[in-house]
Amino acid sequence: MSDSIKQTIKNDKQQVNRSRSPFQNCKTKIKEKQNVQQDPNQQIQNASKMIEMGMKYFQNQQYSMAKVVLINSSQVLLPIIKQKKQNEEDHTAEYQQLIKAISTAEICTQKIDQLQQSIASQDPYSKQIIETAMIRKCDVTFDSIVGLESIKNQLEEVIVLPNLRPDIFTGIRAPPKGILFYGPPGNGKTLLAKAVANQIKCCFFNVSASTLVQKHLGEGEKLMKTLFNVAFKFQPSVIFIDEIDSILSSRSSEEHEASRRLKTEFLISFDGMQTTDQDRIFLIAATNRPQDIDGAVLRRFTVKILIDQPDQKARLGLVKSLMQAVSHSILDIAFDKICEKLAGYSASDIKAVVKEACMQPLREDKITLVAMSAQNIRPVRKEDFEFAINKVKPSLTQKQYQEYISFNKSEK
Ligand SMILES: Nc1ncnc2c1ncn2[C@@H]1O[C@H](COP(=O)(O)OP(=O)(O)O)[C@@H](O)[C@H]1O
Ligand SMILES: [Mg+2]
Repeated sequence: MSDSIKQTIKNDKQQVNRSRSPFQNCKTKIKEKQNVQQDPNQQIQNASKMIEMGMKYFQNQQYSMAKVVLINSSQVLLPIIKQKKQNEEDHTAEYQQLIKAISTAEICTQKIDQLQQSIASQDPYSKQIIETAMIRKCDVTFDSIVGLESIKNQLEEVIVLPNLRPDIFTGIRAPPKGILFYGPPGNGKTLLAKAVANQIKCCFFNVSASTLVQKHLGEGEKLMKTLFNVAFKFQPSVIFIDEIDSILSSRSSEEHEASRRLKTEFLISFDGMQTTDQDRIFLIAATNRPQDIDGAVLRRFTVKILIDQPDQKARLGLVKSLMQAVSHSILDIAFDKICEKLAGYSASDIKAVVKEACMQPLREDKITLVAMSAQNIRPVRKEDFEFAINKVKPSLTQKQYQEYISFNKSEK
C-alpha cells in the first residue's frame, strides 16, 4: 500500500473518531436507521431538506421541534456516510451536514435546559409540573415489551412517525389529539406509553392522580392548566395521564366541587390543544376502568386501544424472556404446556409466577445457600412452575375480564 493511501485511511479514521465525539456529547443518543436500501442520493436530499427545516425551527426558537428533526436527519445521514467511507468515496459534504445537524441539536438541548429552568422559576405550579411530571429521557423500549405487535405498529403510525416527520403528517394526515389505552391491569399500558416517549425523543409529562388531585380547592385545576401550558412550550410533547378514571370519572350529583372543576379544566385544555397545524402536543391516557370515565372525556379520545391479556404466543414469549438468564431444565414442549395453564393471567401475574418458580430452588436448603456457589444452585424444573401456578392466581376473575370485552364491543 502506498504511503499516500495509508495517509488517506489514517485521516479518515481520525475523521470518524472526531465525528463520534459530537454523538457522545449529544444527550439523545443517535441510532442508525436500518433502511439503507433506498437510493442514497435521494436520502441525502431528504436529509438536507430536513436539516433546513430543523434550522428554521431553530431560528424560530422552537428548540424541541428543531432537535427532533435534526436528530432524525442525522440518523439518515450516518449509515450513508459509513457506506461511502467503506467504498472509499468522498463523503465530505454529508459529513459537514451531519456535524451541522448534531451541533445544532446539541445547542437545542442547552436551550431546552435553560427554558426548563426559566419556566420552573415563573410560578410554583410550573415548578411542580417540571419537577414531578416532566421526563426528558425514558428507558423503556418497544423491544422490551413482549407481544402487542399490532398495537406497536399502530402506535408507530399514529404517534411515533408524525413526531419524527412533523412536515409530512399535517392537515388531513395530522395525528389524533388523544389516545386511550384501556384494559385489564398489568398488561403493559404504562410501559407502552413510556416506550412511545422513548421512541419519539420528545418531552414526556407523566401525571397521575397524585400529581393533580390536591388538598386545596382550585389547586388541581391550576395544575391541570399549567400542565398543558408547559407541554405546549416544550412541544413536540406527550402528556401521559395514568389511571385517568381516578381523576376524570363520570359526573355524579354528589360530585365534589374540586373534581368537577378539574374535569372542566381538562376539557377546556384538551380542546385548546393543537389549535394550529404546527402544534405537536399529544395526550395518552391509560385506565383499568374505562366504564368509569366521564362521557365527555371519553368522547375526546378518538383512538381507543384495548391492551388485552397476553395470548399463548405472548405468554410464551414473556416466560421465555424472563427465564433467559436463569438456569433451567425445561423443554420447549413443557413451556408450551405451562403457558397454556397461564391463560387468564396478566403479564404482571405471569411475571409473579416466573419469579415464584425461580425462587423454589433457593428455598430448598436455606442453611447451605449462604455458602453455596451460584453455579451449584439447581436448575428450575417444570414442577417449580406447577407449584407457582397453584400459588399465584390470576388477579382478575373471568367476570371482571368480560367487562373489558363488553366495553370494547360497545366502542366498536
Ligand atoms: N407486554 C409486556 N411485556 C413485558 N412485561 C410486561 C408487559 N406487560 C406488563 N409487563 C410487566 O408488568 C408490569 C406492569 O405493567 P404496566 O405497564 O404497569 O401495566 P398496566 O399499566 O397495564 O397496569 C411491568 O412493569 C412489566 O414488568
Ligand atoms: Mg399502569
